Amino acid sequence: MRSRPKQNNTTPAPVLGIVGRVLIATGGLPFPAIEVQHEHLAAMHPSAGVSAAYGEYLARISGCISCHGAGLSGGHLQGAPSDPPAQNLTPAGDVGRWTFAQFTSTIRTGTRPDGTHINSFMPWPDFAQMSTAELHAIWLYLKSVPPRPTGHG
Ligand code: HEC
Repeated sequence: MRSRPKQNNTTPAPVLGIVGRVLIATGGLPFPAIEVQHEHLAAMHPSAGVSAAYGEYLARISGCISCHGAGLSGGHLQGAPSDPPAQNLTPAGDVGRWTFAQFTSTIRTGTRPDGTHINSFMPWPDFAQMSTAELHAIWLYLKSVPPRPTGHG
């Protein structure tokens, strides 16, 4: 941020209509950002490296857990279009049968080993910018979580 030229733009205040206010007041809108356990993140501070611990940290700050669930078992996303559901990333899902090379290639190209494309609701073009070491850490973390049936956390 410090490397960017100074700008004098004023940011307009956010405007929320009555329906939005009612939904927030009644808990009808999901706000995963405020559900992030910041204390947990602060407590983690693992050293950067190719480890499951660093992979868990990356999976949390990159939002994998917000969309694929705390236990990574996927399922339908709250507040998102009903299709496609987020896939099961635990060893019980398809990813559990992929090699690390197939996982890396899928994240980098948006195309699975079987040739099908990943919907752009999954922000793979952003994750494609991760280094091989970062993807390897996430991969180790995915391998370390207990297998769960899809949609079970
Ligand atoms: C904004 C929500 C969102 C975020 C954030 C997200 N995903 Fe996804 N992901 C999805 C959805 C939805 C799909 C299913 C797309 C489809 O079926 O076309 C998916 C699919 C995948 C797949 C394909 C799995 C399979 O069995 O075909 C992988 C691998 C994956 N995500 C990994 C990740 C990783 C790793 C992260 C974090 C770095 C992540 N996702 C973050 C929503 C998300």
